[in-house]
Amino acid sequence: MLPKINPTNTQAWFLLKKHHDEEMNRRHMRDLFAADKDRFEKFSIQFEDILFDYSKNIINQKTLQLLLQLADECHLKEGIHAMFAGIKINETEHRSVLHTALRNFSDTPILVDGKDVMPLVRKVLNHMKTFCRQIHEGEWKGYTGKKIKHIVNIGIGGSDLGPVMVTEALKPYWIKGMHAHFVSNVDATQLVEILKEVNAEETLFLIASKTFTTQETMTNAHSARDWFLKQAKDEAHVAKHFVALSTNEKEVTKFGIDKANMFEFWDWVGGRYSLWSAIGLSIALTIGYDNFEQLLKGAFAVDEHFKTERFEKNIPVIMALVGIWYINFFGAQSEAILPYDQYMHRFPAYFQQGNMESNGKSVDRMGNPVNYSTGPVIWGEPGTNGQHAFYQLIHQGTPLIPCDFIAPAKSHNPLGDHHTKLLSNFFAQTEALMNGKTEAEVKEELMKVMSNEDEVKKLVPFKVFAGNKPTNSFLLKEITPYSLGSLIALYEHKIFVQGLIWNIFSFDQWGVELGKQLAGKILPELNDDKMVTSHDSSTNALINHYKKMRK
Ligand code: F6P
Repeated sequence: MLPKINPTNTQAWFLLKKHHDEEMNRRHMRDLFAADKDRFEKFSIQFEDILFDYSKNIINQKTLQLLLQLADECHLKEGIHAMFAGIKINETEHRSVLHTALRNFSDTPILVDGKDVMPLVRKVLNHMKTFCRQIHEGEWKGYTGKKIKHIVNIGIGGSDLGPVMVTEALKPYWIKGMHAHFVSNVDATQLVEILKEVNAEETLFLIASKTFTTQETMTNAHSARDWFLKQAKDEAHVAKHFVALSTNEKEVTKFGIDKANMFEFWDWVGGRYSLWSAIGLSIALTIGYDNFEQLLKGAFAVDEHFKTERFEKNIPVIMALVGIWYINFFGAQSEAILPYDQYMHRFPAYFQQGNMESNGKSVDRMGNPVNYSTGPVIWGEPGTNGQHAFYQLIHQGTPLIPCDFIAPAKSHNPLGDHHTKLLSNFFAQTEALMNGKTEAEVKEELMKVMSNEDEVKKLVPFKVFAGNKPTNSFLLKEITPYSLGSLIALYEHKIFVQGLIWNIFSFDQWGVELGKQLAGKILPELNDDKMVTSHDSSTNALINHYKKMRK
């Protein structure tokens, strides 16, 4: 079990509040940097090929020490141990939380209900490895004897976002001749458009669903099967073109997929933490099994770092604590993730689910409403595109938005000076967000180009930048399967640490389950043209108007 401590009752919380109100609320990072030439050394951590610089935050040594005290008072060490040991910390679903077991390359057994899960994990990984080889070498053939060229992953949420994000981020590693496609939305448009790009003979459908009951996925899976059978004309061919990634053998067989073509995972793998499991088959098929293993190894290295490194040098712990500092003491409500790497364009969306589905909770581990903020809104877009869209608000808007800047030092596409230009924007933005621009600086700048002093005076307030906008910088040597695995694991563990300190359950998602139930209830009411009266006046009217309009 996890400790159940209201963080606001800790001494550290009280001291942090005082520290914020009486001291840090008035400090500017510009002064913090000016006063300490070693600031970068003090507030940065190198982990293998990843440099994590968190010096551009409104913190000093005392802030850090109090945040670390908060972690201790909330028994973070015990919490980390409980998760890795397979203790059922997902209490509302009575489940262990063991995505870390999926990338455990040590010899340590991991017990769930007294049974070591590692042999099962290795068995599925071997199954995936063999399958990848069969597909890549053309040993596994489609119903007309052709090699498989197209992989269509049908899944949603955690059964989609991870594979999409990773395959996109690792496009330079795609195996020649393999094409990955992803269908998630129940809106038929997505499936229909993708089916235009593939042909039945050379396409393998991966039906990715932990439960194998999710409305969107099952609807898409059935439509894909119908489309396939229209061409293949024989049910027996389904076996060569449909495999399942699931925990639910019964539903998989009911759908018509042979047990032998099912890649299993388990209830202790959360959907949004499942890319390391059989759900990652689309990744392994696209970038090759060896690269998939590198992804797992990168994450494993971070798991070891998270488990063993002292908290002041522990990247996910620091990421989480600095986040808490802004959310709970400065009132920040959102965080932006800004990858300066076009291949990483789905990284913010991936952690939008990862973070918001995990920590979007308002009831604590005792079942009481919380009296403090928890998970923030996560959003973001790749740089430099975001600079021309929403950075204005980050620089000069009213909300405080802590940002994570992520960039590789080496590009996979070293074309001319594109990458140096990209990185110059990265550095310039974090510097400008921190420094801002003072009134005097603006005035001086304007006086150089304008002669009318009154005009200058009028313009100055609009051109002043307060600065003091916090950023973390992640500089990676290169985006490789290994470094990407590490980066994902850093963010995963950040979410865990925050959830632990906020005293919430990070691994259930009852809010989403509600949506699943509600849609199921309304669906039968849409099957005829009768007017409905069973809902509130707005919902009734919307449904009834829809029924008229669709005619
Ligand atoms: O979106 C809610 C959710 O429960 C996610 O946690 C999960 O990743 C997704 O639905 C898909 O569920 P399944 O893999 O069971 O189809």
